[in-house]
Parts: sequence; structure tokens; C-alpha cells
Amino acid sequence: MSEILIAYYSRADENYVNGEIKELTVGNTELAAKKIAELTGGDLFKIEQSVPYSKSYNECIAEAQADQKRNARPELKSCLASVEKYGEIYLGFPNYWSTMPMAVFTFLEKFDFSGKTIKPFCTHEGSGMGKSESDIKTLCPNSTVKRGLAIRGGGVERSIKDIEKWCGED
Ligand SMILES: Cc1cc2nc3c(=O)[nH]c(=O)nc-3n(C[C@H](O)[C@H](O)[C@H](O)COP(=O)(O)O)c2cc1C
Repeated sequence: MSEILIAYYSRADENYVNGEIKELTVGNTELAAKKIAELTGGDLFKIEQSVPYSKSYNECIAEAQADQKRNARPELKSCLASVEKYGEIYLGFPNYWSTMPMAVFTFLEKFDFSGKTIKPFCTHEGSGMGKSESDIKTLCPNSTVKRGLAIRGGGVERSIKDIEKWCGED
């Protein structure tokens, strides 16, 4: 039996939630990822950059935007040795200008996901999945990419029912 992986990117610290700057101790996507791990019994892996973006929201915005503009592939702090044993990968990330943070691109390019199923989920402040699903399909052309789940960043706790339903979808 193949196993389940929940790989996610999430940034705590200062963030913009429902119109105000807030200090988060745990990032929104991390909350959702942990819930999915509880529901599926899958392994959790946090995608982290060697050099994290600034704790300041405004500085983070500038750094992340510069990385996106130059199509950067930020180096990862650590990575799994292999994803071979996993058949299903839940891939979580915050929406950064309609797609994933560039470190998630680094992660997807590190392994061969051929034949695997990818279930993307994101947290966002209004843009939903954006074009992330099509970017994942481009990076992983031989994977099955399932319907993504977009969760409002400040509303992860209120979205538990949607998360449960989506996890149960084939
Ligand atoms: C650098 C940056 C860019 C963002 N761009 C968008 C965006 O284009 N659209 C959107 O709906 N939300 C955007 N957001 C909001 C995040 O997607 C949202 O707050 C998310 O829940 C953060 O997840 P996290 O706490 O797991 O990092 C952005 C946030 C940051 C920090």
C-alpha cells in the first residue's frame, strides 16, 4: 500500500488577515496541513527555505515578489530523501500572487512525481487557488492533479467540514 504525504509551505509571523496586520504563531496553511494529517494519517513535511522571508509583512512581500519576478528557486533548508513510497501527496501553500511561493516550485522540481496523485490546497485572502493548479500540472506533467481546496486564511478552523469532505473525495 502506498503512503500519504502532506507537504506544505507556511509562514507564521506578521501577516495580513481579514484586513489587518496580525502576528501569527502558527501559519494558516500549517493549521490546515495538520488537520489533513489527522484525517488521513499521512506524514507531514514542512517546505522551508534556507533563508526565510522576513518576519515583517511588508519586507516579506517585497522579497517574495522579487523571487517570483525572477522565477527564483530558493534553496530548501532540508528535504526528504525520497518521495518514492508516497502514492498520494497533499500539497499545501499560501496563495502568493495567484500561485505558490517559489520554494514550492523548488520542492516539486526535486522529485519525480510521475504516477502519483497530487491534491493541492491553499490558504488565501481572496484569490482562491489562482493558477496554482495549472502551474503544478506543468511542473508534474505525469501526475494526476485533483481538484484543489482553497481555504480563506483566517478561517481554517471554520472550514473543517470542507476539509473533511475534500479529503474524502476520490
Ligand atoms: C508574500 C505574500 C503574497 C500574498 N499574495 C496573495 C495574493 O495574491 N492573493 C491572496 O488572496 N492572498 C495573498 N496573500 C495572503 C496569503 O495567501 C494568506 O494570508 C495565507 O493564508 C498565508 O498562509 P500562511 O499563514 O500559511 O503563510 C499573500 C501573502 C503574502 C505574505
